[in-house]
Amino acid sequence: MNRLNVDSPTRYDRLTMSLHWLTAALVIFMFASAQIWEQLAKGTPLRKGLQSVHISCGILLAVIVIGRLLWRLSRGRRLPPANQGVMNIAAKTAHLALYLLLLLSQIVLGFLFRWAQAEPFNFFGLFDVPMLMTFDKSMKSVFGGLHENVAWAIILLAGLHAVMALVHHYGLRDGTLRRMLPGRDIN
Ligand code: HEM
Ligand code: HEM
Repeated sequence: MNRLNVDSPTRYDRLTMSLHWLTAALVIFMFASAQIWEQLAKGTPLRKGLQSVHISCGILLAVIVIGRLLWRLSRGRRLPPANQGVMNIAAKTAHLALYLLLLLSQIVLGFLFRWAQAEPFNFFGLFDVPMLMTFDKSMKSVFGGLHENVAWAIILLAGLHAVMALVHHYGLRDGTLRRMLPGRDIN
């Protein structure tokens, strides 16, 4: 059931918007950083630096996605569905899949991949992340392969999601995109 305030707001609350756009920016950075370091020679400081920023941003992404889900399940504003019928089911399924792929798959796989590499890692040099598990060396390529495949799945699904948001805005000319953008209430 949708929970609306007494004055029926037509935009998401600021925290929901901030967490959405932060998630989007981080996911794009995570993917782009890996594409860039793959072009660089192994062992160069820039490649190693990008990998360690990727891991630190991954820890930040984990906190943001968990925070976003907790906010959504508690006090975060929910709005009436932007679509009807089959399109509503498709949009909801895509949103749920994005959360699951991000949280259950990619973030978990990212940490497992790093522990399987058996190299210490930290959060922007502020604190070390403890090694919670140890794996056989062969698992490195298993987690690495899965991590890369899930990364592609997220990028493709998020791309489709963004295209649909633009179709709503420029094609259907409804307020769907604007509800995720700051500004005054639309009505
Ligand atoms: C990697 C990038 C992105 C991810 C992971 C992502 C994820 C999500 C998720 C999970 C939701 C559902 C929110 C909820 O109900 O809890 C959502 C909503 C939304 N997203 Fe994104 N998003 C991304 C990029 C974008 C971009 C680029 C746009 C615009 C071009 C966009 C526009 C929207 C809009 C308008 C909504 C609200 C839809 C509605 O009210 O039904 N998103 N996003
Ligand atoms: C949406 C989030 C993420 C995306 C899109 C993403 C994407 C990628 C991609 C495409 C690669 C290259 C894979 C390969 O060529 O084998 C990679 C490598 C890696 N990722 Fe992620 N990743 C994400 C989140 C995370 C998280 C949360 C962590 C852990 C904290 C993490 C840790 C790693 C590690 C350790 C590597 C290997 C670096 C190396 O070669 O030393 N990633 N990631």
